[in-house]
Amino acid sequence: MIQKPRGTLDILPGESEIWQEVERKIKKVASLYGFREIRLPTFEMSELYKRGVGETSDVVQKEMYSFNDNDRRNITLRPEGTAGVVRSVIENSLGNGALPLALYYLISCFRYEKPEAGRSREFYQFGVELFGAKDASADANVISLAAAVFRELGLTDVHLEINSIGCPNCRPKYHKALREYFETRKDELCPTCLERLDKNPLRILDCKSPICKEIGEGAPKTVDHLCPECEEHFNSLKKYLDAAGIEYKVNPRIVRGLDYYQKTVFEFITDKIGAQSTICGGGRYDGMVKELDGPDLCGLGFAMGLTRIMLALEAEGVLPVIDESPDLYIASMGDTARAKSFEMTEALRSLGKRALFDQVGRSVKAQMKYADKMGAKYSMVLGDSELEGGKAILKNMQNGESCEVEIANISTLAECLK
Ligand code: HAM
Repeated sequence: MIQKPRGTLDILPGESEIWQEVERKIKKVASLYGFREIRLPTFEMSELYKRGVGETSDVVQKEMYSFNDNDRRNITLRPEGTAGVVRSVIENSLGNGALPLALYYLISCFRYEKPEAGRSREFYQFGVELFGAKDASADANVISLAAAVFRELGLTDVHLEINSIGCPNCRPKYHKALREYFETRKDELCPTCLERLDKNPLRILDCKSPICKEIGEGAPKTVDHLCPECEEHFNSLKKYLDAAGIEYKVNPRIVRGLDYYQKTVFEFITDKIGAQSTICGGGRYDGMVKELDGPDLCGLGFAMGLTRIMLALEAEGVLPVIDESPDLYIASMGDTARAKSFEMTEALRSLGKRALFDQVGRSVKAQMKYADKMGAKYSMVLGDSELEGGKAILKNMQNGESCEVEIANISTLAECLK
């Protein structure tokens, strides 16, 4: 038997309806905040992620699904959404339209990571990106949107951590401080981090190796090395969050795993789902659009991991309850009755009722067993006598009560299916 590739998910009926409901709620909140959906390719030129996400990030160094296509173009399955959105904003000159530009997406992403609960190789994200808003109120607005999604979904055990990682002005001084610190424990760093020490020492703070993590604990903090502009931005963000009543903790250890961030970074974390507890991560990426040959357009956003949200909903006991069971199952005896039952289900569906009929030609007993398995709320049997008399018995499958209905009067029948 061929099995699904390691680290992928089958979302089966029963689960898929829950996903649909969660996505519906997410879209509702995104729309309330004025964000519009953008749909983009599942794969992009690898160059986009190398330049956009950054050569020193784990994602680019170790986790990308890249391949040469038949024209020998190097292609990568998207490991995240931001780079593709930035590419599209530039390619379609969306920055020339009304600003700020507010976009959201619901996508699958691909990363070659070690699968565990809440971490898969194909996973799903809800993300937003906001372009052309420099003020810290925009950071607060985007964070507020994420918080509103959690509220809408009924998640309560989620907390927000924020940090500022500075900008190209303050970063050289901070990098110097970091290098000096890590030089003292150079011999203990993993080979990847040894390379990062030269190129981008900030990335060492995001390394998953336990030793590098432990060394990182004592490293200098970004918030102690901010330039006046970044400090002002960070203080302003905190004021906006306070004013909006959004609780947060400043965590100087948040640096995020992708290279494009500047100034604000943030994560929403839950204690309920084990090690992969970050259900949302984001921040500001003001230099990225220009870096990718676009205009000087600032940007910020976040992405939520939908698989982790499902785990959190389950852990908090607030998974949406979905009823997809049929309103009516019409069992039939013989070809004429089956044709009539098909005609009736079609009419009922047009009135918004979920109606099923026998498509197999099974015995009435087998049909009723199927109706029961499908959780049908009502059933009806059509045979020659029902067709001749124009009447049939409608049975409530839950309490066994029954009543007589006219076969030809579909709107009355639909009324009975409550
Ligand atoms: P990220 O932190 O790499 O950021 O991913 C965002 C979220 O996606 C994570 O917090 C997590 O919930 C989920 N996630 C990441 N990797 C996996 C995985 N292997 N399995 C399951 N869930 C996962 C970004 O992707 C940025 N593009 C976010 C952003 C948008 N920043 C600004 N705009």
